Amino acid sequence: MQGKFISLEGGEGTGKTTQIELLSNKLKEIGINATTTREPGGTIEAEKIRNLLVQRDGGNWDPLSEALLLFAARREHLVKLIWPEMEKGNWVITDRFADSSRVFQGYGMDLGQEIINRLYRLIAEDFCPDLTIVLDIDAEIGLRRSNKHMQDSNDELENTEDRYELMGLEFHKKLRDGFLKIAELYPRRCIVINAEQSIEEIHAEIMAVVSKKFGLDEQELANG
Ligand SMILES: Nc1ncnc2c1ncn2[C@@H]1O[C@H](COP(=O)(O)OP(=O)(O)O)[C@@H](O)[C@H]1O
Ligand SMILES: [Mg+2]
Repeated sequence: MQGKFISLEGGEGTGKTTQIELLSNKLKEIGINATTTREPGGTIEAEKIRNLLVQRDGGNWDPLSEALLLFAARREHLVKLIWPEMEKGNWVITDRFADSSRVFQGYGMDLGQEIINRLYRLIAEDFCPDLTIVLDIDAEIGLRRSNKHMQDSNDELENTEDRYELMGLEFHKKLRDGFLKIAELYPRRCIVINAEQSIEEIHAEIMAVVSKKFGLDEQELANG
């Protein structure tokens, strides 16, 4: 069987990383090999590009240049990790994917959707996530969570991964609207979840969506 591909999307501090870990652990408990990964990044080469984009001193990119860097990283991610894992029948769960480019560069930086879609077709043709979970929260609450998380981190690289956070509240409000628009544009694969709920409530909603979408055994999940 071909594996499944799930993306988690949403603003900073919505809980994507937290929820991916809970989801992959639950899937592993019922015998599904779930590989977790992230964008930008996921491979050695793509992680190098990540630092140019998320680090505080990463650079002041022209929006199209920025999109090209992201799509170069995404191509590496697809070819070297996502597709090979799926070929093996494993599930891949990614913290951000192409919808983040649609939203950050397409909407947030006003590059437009057409350019993003052209770049996407170039690297991935008609491949797309089987399911996209959009975590939605007030931009101010998300930024507060994200900044606190970075300050508390002991990881030196993570401490300064705030280039996007530093783009300000107005930009992040635009991103929130952008993610909601994307969910409306691609209703067959996208589901929006209110990320102001507790970690446990969000996890339960995600498990309900995943079970229904992929026909997992609810009983097995409850026991697992
Ligand atoms: N539902 C939640 N309620 C309150 N705090 C949360 C919730 N989900 C995550 N957090 C906290 O917010 C911070 C950011 O969460 P994280 O999962 O790293 O978000 P993201 O990956 O979307 O930026 C972390 O400190 C995390 O513990
Ligand atoms: Mg994260």
